[in-house]
Amino acid sequence: MKYAMESEGEAKRLETQAQQKGYQLDGELAGVHLPVTGKFLDAGCGSGLLCRYLKAQASSREVWGVDFSDLRLHQAAQAAASENLNIAFQREDLTTLSFEDASFDVVFCRYVFEHLARPDVVLKELHRILRPNGKIVLINFDGIVVNMHSRDQFLQEQLEQLAKGYVGDLYIARKLPALLAHHKFGDIHWQTSCMDFTASNRQEEALNTRSRFEFANEVLCRIFGGEKQANEFKARYFSALDDPSTTIFYTKFVVEGTKR
Ligand SMILES: C[S@@+](CC[C@H](N)C(=O)[O-])C[C@H]1O[C@@H](n2cnc3c(N)ncnc32)[C@H](O)[C@@H]1O
Repeated sequence: MKYAMESEGEAKRLETQAQQKGYQLDGELAGVHLPVTGKFLDAGCGSGLLCRYLKAQASSREVWGVDFSDLRLHQAAQAAASENLNIAFQREDLTTLSFEDASFDVVFCRYVFEHLARPDVVLKELHRILRPNGKIVLINFDGIVVNMHSRDQFLQEQLEQLAKGYVGDLYIARKLPALLAHHKFGDIHWQTSCMDFTASNRQEEALNTRSRFEFANEVLCRIFGGEKQANEFKARYFSALDDPSTTIFYTKFVVEGTKR
């Protein structure tokens, strides 16, 4: 299954996003205890920003980044080389990883699960490649893009249509602890935080979502039944965001588990 936002500009969007309030790695990982050695995997690494962060924090870590986009891996390798960071990047589909059983100490998967058509299959694979007592860290937003309210009833219906028709699950974050338990992970715990787009950061998020919608245009056309309808949806969405009484907020989940 193709990634919905696959595009030349996606690496730049991910790097810009990581600078936005609420998306910064420092905040996300503040409560996560990580060893300074061992083998780390970033599953669905995108532009490799988390790989670079992990390696820059402790050069004794062996860091791997995998993604099924050749373009993203090329961009990630270039960014790591420009910072003199030794990180292994490899093309992998998360549903069928080529790694041996029990080969990683820590596995991260950040902002990927909402895009997966088969989250169960991916979690089974991540469990397989973790060593016993190895740690998994899943970072996701619940309700990303769609958790908004305006008095435009037609838009509200379109948002439901978007969430229903999306390839993955835009509300997956709340389901991750149960998914981990189902896959026999133990010591499951999580932290949540609210990312609220108010006057000061709403414009940044609107720009981010403009890129998301541009890159995922094919998906929007499929969901809304054509280019004209997709454009109408986008116009309503951004007009609602321009209205200061429209609420938009996502809940970030940082979920940890241990392989038993
Ligand atoms: C929203 S981006 C997140 C990238 C990165 N983790 C970050 O935090 O910026 C999702 C990434 O997951 C990758 N991806 C989605 N499904 C995948 C799959 N089945 N196998 C490998 N990579 C996948 C996409 O190519 C994309 O780079």
